[in-house]
Amino acid sequence: MDRAFEKIDHVGIAVRDLDAAVEAYTRLTGVEPAHRQRVDSDGIEAVMFEVGESRIELLGSTRDDSKIANFLAKRGGGLHHVAYGVHDVQESLDHFAALGLELLDTCPRRGAAGRLVAFLHPSAAGGVLTELCQPDPQAAGAHE
Ligand code: CO
Repeated sequence: MDRAFEKIDHVGIAVRDLDAAVEAYTRLTGVEPAHRQRVDSDGIEAVMFEVGESRIELLGSTRDDSKIANFLAKRGGGLHHVAYGVHDVQESLDHFAALGLELLDTCPRRGAAGRLVAFLHPSAAGGVLTELCQPDPQAAGAHE
């Protein structure tokens, strides 16, 4: 593997009031949200803004015991994770495991919009939760 990441795919921002944040980011970016998705298994709702080549993901909690609720209670909202685009999530996970970095996932799972995603522990990246994001699963070998 030459370089670990293709690009920054998006930044994830945890918010207390998702509708208010969507309004604020619509004003801030000058674009309407591209995608909104509720993931009941995780107790979250995610709204994606597309800004040029980049994306901003707003994350709200739909349950008191969700990871986002936890994060909001501890850190009060703000930057939640940075997501890097990778060619192949499984290959990346194997690469980072070989470097001895702490992984939160050992294999990819389905994220929003059919993407394959996996997370590295914040200790791997200066205290910031790190998402690996493979935009087009068809582009690489399927690992499911
Ligand atoms: Co994300």
